[in-house]
Amino acid sequence: MTKIGILLSGRGSNFEAIAESVAAGRIDAGIVVVISNRADAAGLESARARGLKAVCLPSKGLDRAVYDRSVVAELRKHGVDLVCLAGFLRLLTGEFVRAFPERILNIHPSLLPAFPGLDAQHQALTHGVKVSGCTVHFVDEQLDAGPIVLQATVPVLDEDTVESLSARILVEEHRIYTEAIQVVATGKYRIEGRRVLLG
Ligand code: GRF
Repeated sequence: MTKIGILLSGRGSNFEAIAESVAAGRIDAGIVVVISNRADAAGLESARARGLKAVCLPSKGLDRAVYDRSVVAELRKHGVDLVCLAGFLRLLTGEFVRAFPERILNIHPSLLPAFPGLDAQHQALTHGVKVSGCTVHFVDEQLDAGPIVLQATVPVLDEDTVESLSARILVEEHRIYTEAIQVVATGKYRIEGRRVLLG
């Protein structure tokens, strides 16, 4: 059974959705550890409330390479073979990425390659796009750039604010992150160049 490690920095709603999907049998895997780089992340508390192993590894003031090595060590300690970034607000070092080749997923609240980085929903609104959405992708050393597993679209409405657009996208995030993890956990895909072919 695939052993998932979750990395988060904040609210943790994607983590919650994944945990619900695991509990409901929609994902054939187990969550073996939840790691946050911030002690005040709400996601850490909800992981504990679910009886999951929850670890805080503070990143503040630490060299990136040193920090990432400590996270990799913690993931290895728990036998993690699929890393899911769920609002983890850090760019991974190459060493980290190479420690889990094609076994790190991320969710991003835009239709990549549009609007990578922070405040993707704000970027979408100010650019004036009529459609946005979210992307689950494999993580490489570039920001929000690896091969795409799944995407979902949502309309951008004239009356939208960052909050209303974010909320509409978040519903789809929770849905496709579960689907993408199940695809990867069950091995029903192959990667050809940048393309992730499903089935
Ligand atoms: C989500 O919008 C996700 O796409 C982005 O960060 C946010 C995390 O939200 N990477 P949550 O902590 O999962 O609620």
